[in-house]
Amino acid sequence: MNRRVALLESLLEARYPGNPPPDLCVAMDQAVEFAVCEGRSIAEAIAAFFAEDDWGPAQKTLEDIVRPGVQFRPSALPIMPKAVSSLLRLTEDSATVDELERIAATDPVLAARLLAASNSARHGSRFQIVRLREAVMRLGVLEARRALIASSLGGLFASTALRELWDHSQIVADSAARIATTCGIDPETAWLAGLVHDIGRLGFATLPANARVAEQRWLEAGFPLVYAETLAFGNDHASLGEQLLRGWEIPAFVGDAVAMHHRPESARSDLEAILFLAEDTAVRLGTCVAEDLWLDMRRRIACERTGLELDELREMDARGNVHHRAIA
Ligand SMILES: [Fe+2]
Ligand SMILES: [Fe+2]
Repeated sequence: MNRRVALLESLLEARYPGNPPPDLCVAMDQAVEFAVCEGRSIAEAIAAFFAEDDWGPAQKTLEDIVRPGVQFRPSALPIMPKAVSSLLRLTEDSATVDELERIAATDPVLAARLLAASNSARHGSRFQIVRLREAVMRLGVLEARRALIASSLGGLFASTALRELWDHSQIVADSAARIATTCGIDPETAWLAGLVHDIGRLGFATLPANARVAEQRWLEAGFPLVYAETLAFGNDHASLGEQLLRGWEIPAFVGDAVAMHHRPESARSDLEAILFLAEDTAVRLGTCVAEDLWLDMRRRIACERTGLELDELREMDARGNVHHRAIA
């Protein structure tokens, strides 16, 4: 018996007045495992299990344990920083030195970060840059735009508790851009999608500790993050992230990719599969733990969708590893 089923059974035995059917919890857990074959999210698989199967009255008790009455939505979702909307409106063609200098000058934190990026050891110049215009020119328009977007969004992850999530987001963004380049997809879009792929976790992470007790209990029993969130909140961070991004001025296909970043088997675009592979790279390089089930199978599916070979991914891993260490 796996640890997940053991916890479900102990909770059911504590709540159900008689002897529950011995395989009920196994059946529910298997319904979740088979969700990948049926193209369902975990929330959809659990809903279908309780609607379609009939295990008698004990099933209702189990449903009360694993399905919150209403789908949870945090009341205070993060607002998109103002500079990000200006930066996103700039396309590759319209992003000019003048525009980026103007946007950086609207916010002292952005200005300071842009100067710091241009003076970082990576650019290896003896000359200290103190003007925004020169900073943009040294970085180049695309890298300056990325630095400004990252600085603006990074403000949402300012607390120490969220630092790890922000580091993870930057690592996935860089992997997504690298994989997209190999697949002939716009790397800037993939980079942005990577940067916001786990923004839904921000919604859950900022809840008060008492609202997260159930999620913590599921995680400690070995439920992967997406499964644990679904049991605790009726929703997972991929779906919550998509809802959040819909309210921002981010193109809808980026939100769609965020919604599907753990489910390449249901991907409708290469970007969705690329985002899964970028997340998976971070897991394989050991910078984060797996957030969902069936990684090997899903990796194969995502590779097929994007036309990538596993060996190509491994080569990218080797290059990315150097970069990931630099970020960490
Ligand atoms: Fe992630
Ligand atoms: Fe995720």
